Amino acid sequence: MTVNGSSVEILLDMADLVRPNAVRAAAALKLADHLSGRPMTAGELAERAGAHEGMLGKLLRYLVELGILDADDAGRYTLTELGEPLRRDSPQSVGQYLSAEGLFGRIELGLVGLLHSVRTGEPCHAAAFGREYWDEINNDPVFVPALEAEGNQQIAWDAELIIEAYDWSRARRVLDVGGNDGTLLIELLTRHPHLHGTVLDLPNLARIAQRRIEQAGLADRAGAVAASFFDPLPTGYDVYLLSGILGDWSDERSITILRNCAEAAGPEGRVLLADIHLRVPAGTPNAARLELFLAASMPRPSRSVDELRELGRSAGLRVTWEGPSTPVRSLLEFSLAETAATGAESPREPAHA
Ligand SMILES: C[S@@+](CC[C@H](N)C(=O)[O-])C[C@H]1O[C@@H](n2cnc3c(N)ncnc32)[C@H](O)[C@@H]1O
Repeated sequence: MTVNGSSVEILLDMADLVRPNAVRAAAALKLADHLSGRPMTAGELAERAGAHEGMLGKLLRYLVELGILDADDAGRYTLTELGEPLRRDSPQSVGQYLSAEGLFGRIELGLVGLLHSVRTGEPCHAAAFGREYWDEINNDPVFVPALEAEGNQQIAWDAELIIEAYDWSRARRVLDVGGNDGTLLIELLTRHPHLHGTVLDLPNLARIAQRRIEQAGLADRAGAVAASFFDPLPTGYDVYLLSGILGDWSDERSITILRNCAEAAGPEGRVLLADIHLRVPAGTPNAARLELFLAASMPRPSRSVDELRELGRSAGLRVTWEGPSTPVRSLLEFSLAETAATGAESPREPAHA
């Protein structure tokens, strides 16, 4: 390979961090939205966006260089056609998606810790920001607007299976462990009116879930608590649901989560593991990039059902029912293994056959 001027330029361009951060800062400050009404000076925009005028002026000039903004002789800025999708009300808006304070934006910014991931195999986010992704998103108030704007809102990833394929008639109380903004629990309780339930999640999402449950008119049957699934969990529920949780955690930490569910469930309760399988299909454009991104941002994006079964076994659980699987979702019901529950080894009838 020869090193010539253009190779150097290409490499420097590939490694540039100013450009993505400028676009993401512009998205977080909603500059495109502020400029949708009329042209504005740096001073006006700084006031609207709550920014430092001097620094914002430099960002604005760079956004002109990138072709996202235009500037007139009086120092007033307007949005170009290229910048339009940064508006939150644009039909194909990417404003929230690219925001440095958005949920996806924050994952992408964590890629600054990629070197740590490649050296250790650990996720990159804590290396970049000093705390794990969900911990940061749930404890810093700056992310509340993003949690509200980008929240689940609808069940996804074949979560229909959880609601329809599992025999809920035997259960009365369900704890949705890591239940996010309550979307899944609300749907579950709406479709199975005999059920009562609680979302357990970290503080920001627990607050949002509580509000959404009340708005859904389910406050008499449901609520939300702020707690960590790495601590002992509340007892007294029939089903401890883990939907789309374990992919974010190493085997060791997944076993801790499962064990905490098992201990709270006791001999009579069940742990329903509804894991998500995030695979990059062969032939996907930029597949290598996507695989690298997934592996650096979450330790185990896709465990096999056998691997999940094995995790359960390591947590002192045995499979009592195996539900249908789709390419993106599987269902396993566990209960305490006999040895863990009673100290004796004897076969038991599956709760759901
Ligand atoms: C990938 S989301 C899955 C959300 C939801 N269960 C679903 O099926 O859509 C992971 C969830 O785990 C929550 N979480 C992360 N760490 C947690 C912890 N230590 N304790 C409780 N919840 C946690 C996150 O806040 C987030 O809501």
